[in-house]
Amino acid sequence: VKGLSVGRFVRGIRGILGQRFAPPTSLQDNPVLGLLYARRSTRRFLRTPLPADVMTAILDAGRLAPSTVNLQSWAFGVFDAASWRAAFGRGIPFGGTAAILICGDMHRPRQAIDDFPRKPLVDYTVAVMNASIAAYAMNIAAEALGVGSVMLSDTGRSGFYDGLYLREKLGLPEAVFPLMTLVLGYGAAGPGASPPKLPLDQVVFKGRYRESDPNVMKDWLDGMMSGYRAMHVVKSFKGQLRHYLSKVDEAEKGLHRMIFYAPEQSKRKGT
Ligand SMILES: Cc1cc2nc3c(=O)[nH]c(=O)nc-3n(C[C@H](O)[C@H](O)[C@H](O)COP(=O)(O)O)c2cc1C
Repeated sequence: VKGLSVGRFVRGIRGILGQRFAPPTSLQDNPVLGLLYARRSTRRFLRTPLPADVMTAILDAGRLAPSTVNLQSWAFGVFDAASWRAAFGRGIPFGGTAAILICGDMHRPRQAIDDFPRKPLVDYTVAVMNASIAAYAMNIAAEALGVGSVMLSDTGRSGFYDGLYLREKLGLPEAVFPLMTLVLGYGAAGPGASPPKLPLDQVVFKGRYRESDPNVMKDWLDGMMSGYRAMHVVKSFKGQLRHYLSKVDEAEKGLHRMIFYAPEQSKRKGT
């Protein structure tokens, strides 16, 4: 990723501020569409805790989500500020007042169906698909209740990068895969500008796959870098990307052990 010139910065900021997300006019009164178009990640929270019924409704939105063969292959670890601190020795990232660690869980279906085959890649894929859908359902339920949230795969040793650590720390059985944390709370600030979203014609294809327009992708990258630069005085998108890349090797090794370990072990035992 090349550095950001003043011209690209200005173009990037203009692009972000110029984005308008609204349903087609004929559908603009639909409240669910309204939520989907307005949804944004929240990274600043008030200290006000979430009422119990609000938390229950958010968790229920996950529990009732669709899943492969209705396996419901997920597990939700619930934390408030105190229990998060007790587990991880620091506050919930971004000052959230509650957090849900979302795990893919192929352990539970196996308890009910004893001849359930062990297919590590299929298991992991199914677990990730289902748990991710549940996570988004919880995300949207939170929005509907005026609760802000941000999904985390990294910060605070709470996501898939730290699978083996979390497995140990939280006593997760094999075939329970920690994936991401949904940090929740009442937002302390308005939504702010959205990071750049690709236009529909770049992500939709009909018939054969279509490559993206390189100019649109360049604008997207300019928008990402400019937005990052405008929000963080010291950090840069490049720095963030470097941080991500510095962790992927370790993450890949950890995932490999987590996903393939169990079948290897049972093979050795001859089971
Ligand atoms: C699976 C997943 C993991 C994410 N991990 C992080 C994270 O570790 N840190 C963070 O600040 N945001 C994280 N995000 C939030 C994204 O950065 C955010 O969704 C994206 O920039 C688009 O912004 P928006 O949600 O406001 O539309 C994550 C989102 C998802 C879906």
